[in-house]
Amino acid sequence: MNWTEWRAEFPILERTTYLNSCSLGALSRSALARIETFHEEWHTYGASAWYERWMDRLAELRTRVGAMIGAQDGEIALAASTSAALSVLGSAFDYSKRNRVVLAELDFPTVAYQWMVRPGVEVVRVPSDDGVSIDAERMAAAIDERTAIVSISHVFFTTGAIQEMGPIAEAARRHGAFFIIDAYQSAGQVPIDVETLGADALVTGPLKWLLGGPGLAYLYVRDEWLHSLQPTITGWFAARRQFDFDIHDFEFRDDARRFELGTPSLPTVHSALGGQDIIDRIGVVPIRERNSDLTEHLLVRLEAAGLQFRGAADASARSALVMIPHEDPVGAVQRLADHGIIVDSRPGYVRVSPHFYNTHAELDRFVDVLAGGRG
Ligand SMILES: Cc1ncc(COP(=O)(O)O)c(C=O)c1O
Repeated sequence: MNWTEWRAEFPILERTTYLNSCSLGALSRSALARIETFHEEWHTYGASAWYERWMDRLAELRTRVGAMIGAQDGEIALAASTSAALSVLGSAFDYSKRNRVVLAELDFPTVAYQWMVRPGVEVVRVPSDDGVSIDAERMAAAIDERTAIVSISHVFFTTGAIQEMGPIAEAARRHGAFFIIDAYQSAGQVPIDVETLGADALVTGPLKWLLGGPGLAYLYVRDEWLHSLQPTITGWFAARRQFDFDIHDFEFRDDARRFELGTPSLPTVHSALGGQDIIDRIGVVPIRERNSDLTEHLLVRLEAAGLQFRGAADASARSALVMIPHEDPVGAVQRLADHGIIVDSRPGYVRVSPHFYNTHAELDRFVDVLAGGRG
C-alpha cells in the first residue's frame, strides 16, 4: 500500500498538519463527490429523488456498515446520533424486574446520561484500576440477575485503550443481560466483528475514523432480539408500511429499522458513503496496521523528547488515539495550531490522533513543537 498517495484525497492535509481524526475525520474528495451527486439529484429530480435515488442510498449505507462489522442484512438502523440511537434502544426495556445498567467509569458521558435520566434505573459504574481501561473480570463480576443492560466502549475516548470484551460478553449472556458496545472511537481504525465481540447491540457513527462527517449514527441490533424489543420512542421510518400514511394502525418493521425515527440527514448519508468508499477500499485491517505503526513511531519520539504518554501498556491494546499529560493543554494546542498543527485537548492532556493518511514526518514535527524545540 502506498499510503502517501492517499494524501491527495484529503485537501486539509495540504493546508495543515492534521492530527485530530478522533474528533473529526478529514473530508475526502470522494465524500465531496458524493455530496455533489446528492446536490445534482436534488436539482434534477426534486422530491422524487427520494424514490428514484435516496432510499437506495440509505439501504446502501446500512448494508456497507453492516458488512464492515460482520452484521447480517437487516441488523443495522440509522439514527441522528449515538444519543438518539441509545434513547430509542433504551426505551425498549422493562426496568421493573431488572433495574440495573452496568457501565464503565471511562465511558463517553452520553452513554451514562441515557440511563441516569430514566426513572427507576440504577446506574452501576465500574471503576478503572489503572485509569486506562477496565478490568474485564471486575466488570463481569458487577453483572447479575438485576442487570438489564451492560454497556462499555470498544475504544475509550480519553485513553485510546482497546477494551477486552470476552468476560463481559460472557457474563452478560450468562445472566440474561443485554450487551451494548459503544464503538464510536473504534469503527474505521480497529476491526470490528460483532460476533467475536459478543455484542447484542453496537453503536457507532461516521464522524471520526470513518471519515463521513457529522449528523448520523449507526445502530446494530442482533437479529435474535429484534422481535422482542419494542421501542416506546418511535417514528414513521420504523413503521412496517411507512408509505401507507395510516394514522390508525402502527406495526414495527421486523428488522433493525424498527429503531429508526424520522428523516435522516441526507448530506451526511452521502458524505458517509464517500468516507466508507475509502475505508472499504483500503480495509480496516491494513488501516489498523498502518495506524499502529504511526502510533508506535509517535511513542518512540515522545519518549526521546522526554514527554510522557498515558495509555495501554501493551501495544496490541493501543489505538491511534494518544494522550499526552500536559500542565497547560489548551495553551499547547493553541501553540501547535499557530504552527499549523491541529490536535485537541482533554483536561490535563494533549490528545493526538493520526490516521492512515498521516506520516512519520508530521508526527516528528508535532513532537518537536510540543517539546518546545524546532519548528
Ligand atoms: C465514545 C463516543 N461515543 C459517542 C460519541 C458521540 O455521541 P453522539 O453521537 O450522541 O454525539 C462520541 C463523540 O465524541 C464518542 O467519542
